[in-house]
Amino acid sequence: MELFFIQSQEHDSLPLAELNAVIESEGFNCNIRQIRSGLVVADSIDSDDFDYVYKRLTERLAYTHQITHVLLKTNLKELDSKIPTFDWNSIIEDTFVVRVKTYDSDSDVVAIERRIGGLILENSKNLKVNLTKPHVTIRIIVYKDDVYLTCEDYILNKKYFQDFKPHKRPFFHPGCMSPKLARCMVNLSRIKEGQLLLDPFCGTGGMLMEGGLIGARVVGTDIDWNMKNGSAINCEYAGVKDFKTYKVDINELKMYELCDAVVTDPPYGISTTTGGRDDLIFKDFLLAIKRNMKDDALLVMASPHFVDIDQFLSEVGFEVLERYEIRMHKSLTRIISVIALVD
Ligand SMILES: C[S@@+](CC[C@H](N)C(=O)[O-])C[C@H]1O[C@@H](n2cnc3c(N)ncnc32)[C@H](O)[C@@H]1O
Repeated sequence: MELFFIQSQEHDSLPLAELNAVIESEGFNCNIRQIRSGLVVADSIDSDDFDYVYKRLTERLAYTHQITHVLLKTNLKELDSKIPTFDWNSIIEDTFVVRVKTYDSDSDVVAIERRIGGLILENSKNLKVNLTKPHVTIRIIVYKDDVYLTCEDYILNKKYFQDFKPHKRPFFHPGCMSPKLARCMVNLSRIKEGQLLLDPFCGTGGMLMEGGLIGARVVGTDIDWNMKNGSAINCEYAGVKDFKTYKVDINELKMYELCDAVVTDPPYGISTTTGGRDDLIFKDFLLAIKRNMKDDALLVMASPHFVDIDQFLSEVGFEVLERYEIRMHKSLTRIISVIALVD
C-alpha cells in the first residue's frame, strides 16, 4: 500500500530527512521515493501495518503538510478507463468532494475536479457531491501527466505548531526556536516511544515538549533556575506526561540513566547566557554529553555558522552523520548536525 506526502518547501532537504529518520526510528518497512521537491511517495507498506504507519507518521512529522492514502495511480489520458476499476463505494458512504493540486502541470484544476467527480458518480451507487461538508475528500495530485487519486484518513495537527509558538506559551524567553524545527530535530535523533531524551540546555523546554509529545521520556537541565522551572511549566501546559527538569551546569551533568538521544540548542552568547565562556562551552558540552549517552545514541544539535564545532567534535570523539543549514536572517545561519560517537 502507498502513502503520498505533500511536504513543506521551506527547506530543500530537511522535510525528506525528517521523514526518513522517523521511518528508520519506527522500524517501518517501505520504499521512499521523492517525485520532486515537496512530493514523496512511500510504497510497499504491508497492509497489516498500514493504518498504524499512517497514524504514527501523522503524529510525528513537522515538515509535512498532508499525508494521504493512494487509492489509484494513473495519468491524464487514462483517467476515464482507470476510475471505473476502483470500488468507490468501499471508501465513500454518501457524500464526497474532489480537490486537485497540480505540480509542473498547466492542467485546469477546476476542469479536472469536475471530470473526476463526474466519473466517480458514474461509477458508483448512491453517492452525491457535497462541496461544503463532504463525508470524504478525494485528494488528487497531478504531477506533469501523472495522477494520484488519494484520500485523507488522518490529518496532521498543523494548528499545534501555530498554537504552541514560543510567545504563546506560559513561559517565554527570547531566543528559543520554533516548535516545527524543534520537532524536526527530535525526529532526526531517531528517538523511540518510551526512550530517554535529554536536553542539557533546555531553556524554555522547546525540545522537551516535542520529545514528550511523541512519547519519549524527557529530561531537561539548565544552569538557570528560571529556565528549569519555566521549562517544567511549558511541558505541563503542552500535556507532556513524563518529564523532569533540573538546575545543572553542563560541567556537572551526571545522569542516573544514560540517555538514548540528546537534542539541544546550546547557548551562542547572543541572546542567551553562556556563563561567560562563549564558544568554549561547546567543548565542555561535548565532553559532558559523551559521559551521559549510550554508545548508539545520537546527538542532534544546532550551532551558529560562525562557530566551528568540527574541531571540538573530532577532539572529543564524535562524527557528523548529517548536516543541514537554515538561514535565519542576514547574520545567522543555523547549522543542524546529526552526530554519533566514533566506534
Ligand atoms: C539557546 S538556549 C536554549 C533554548 C531552548 N532550546 C528553548 O527551547 O528555549 C540555551 C540555554 O543554555 C543555558 N545555559 C547556558 N550556560 C549553561 C551551562 N553552563 N550549563 C547549562 N545550561 C547553560 C541557558 O540558561 C539557556 O537557557
